[in-house]
Amino acid sequence: LEIDFELNMSEKDGFPFYMEKEMAEQPRVIARMLEEKTTEDLPDFSGEQVPDSLLTSCESVCIIACGSAMHAGLAGQFLMKKFLHIPVSVEMASEYMYTDPVVDEKTLVIAVSQSGETIDTLEALKYAKQKGAGSLAVINVKGSSIARESDAVLYTNAGPEIAVASTKAYTSQLALFALLVARMAYVRGDFTETETRDFVRELKRVPDAMEKVLAGKEKIHHIAGRIISAKDIFMIGRGLDYFIAMEGSLKLKEVSYIHSEAYASGELKHGPLALITEHTPVVAVATQKQLLSKEVSNIREVRSRGADVVLFAKEQLMPEEEEGYLTFELPDVRDEFMCLPAAAALQLLAYYVSSDKGYDVDKPRNLAKVVTVE
Ligand code: G6P
Repeated sequence: LEIDFELNMSEKDGFPFYMEKEMAEQPRVIARMLEEKTTEDLPDFSGEQVPDSLLTSCESVCIIACGSAMHAGLAGQFLMKKFLHIPVSVEMASEYMYTDPVVDEKTLVIAVSQSGETIDTLEALKYAKQKGAGSLAVINVKGSSIARESDAVLYTNAGPEIAVASTKAYTSQLALFALLVARMAYVRGDFTETETRDFVRELKRVPDAMEKVLAGKEKIHHIAGRIISAKDIFMIGRGLDYFIAMEGSLKLKEVSYIHSEAYASGELKHGPLALITEHTPVVAVATQKQLLSKEVSNIREVRSRGADVVLFAKEQLMPEEEEGYLTFELPDVRDEFMCLPAAAALQLLAYYVSSDKGYDVDKPRNLAKVVTVE
């Protein structure tokens, strides 16, 4: 038994749970991926034989995925719309085929999956291919079914992810989407060479920013203590911050069993505000300069109903007056990349709530790492 225990600890590099180990690996995983897939700061997928023609010939993009991979797809969609100016949709793979999707040979379907085995994503991909769509897979596990089914594959190379709740696989998908957008913008003529290099150089600052978040984990642990006894939590944000709130909220419910809902801040007044009472925890994410003033007014809206607010904000954007709520400063990178440090912070929050409750963080009840049934 003693030997088993020691072996187990060494597999986890001394961390009590795989989830903590995998969160800690993120800066390294992402830095390595950014090095592997760039040449002189230009995104370069020639090693994985992704032909530029696949990226230039499409007139629209459809991202299909489930769970955390779908949340990564939402952030990818945001970047694609912003920089490529083409229609981009994100489809929940399990719903895709029942919604009469408009898909043809001018569509590029991007299937995103850590395992590469999620049956709904695989079936949706096959359906789109039958309609003539070009396909690209963003996958972690080499040689998996979705990888084999696609015209081309970009591997996140995050290494094995053991904890059911995805951390490094998800953030490596976010980083890969940023790189993919840079390559597409470059080869499609939306970015000049200089703009592409500047974008990639800034992206390469992300691992350090994530390292800083991880170094602040005790502060997040303290924040976790303030929400541990909550029954219901709301996570709010606008734009990219909303997508990060969705993933943060999923993470929290998966591992801590607290009911958590993510809401686009502007939607609060269309329903959920009725549920905000004295001491309802509201976790707000604010990393987008253009949206800050609106987000601050949403925070005031919930505060005036008695909510206990925790604000995760980009350092430069942190409101000076903290108005009695808990805050965590996220290190500054370009707004479009703030989703990465923000995601790491919300992962830590979920992790500490779960481990302090004494749960088996790595194996949440009723959930599986790989879902091969429809
Ligand atoms: C399961 C896992 C999630 C994952 C989702 C999609 O629900 O628990 O962590 O995001 O499946 O899995 P995939 O392997 O396709 O990314």
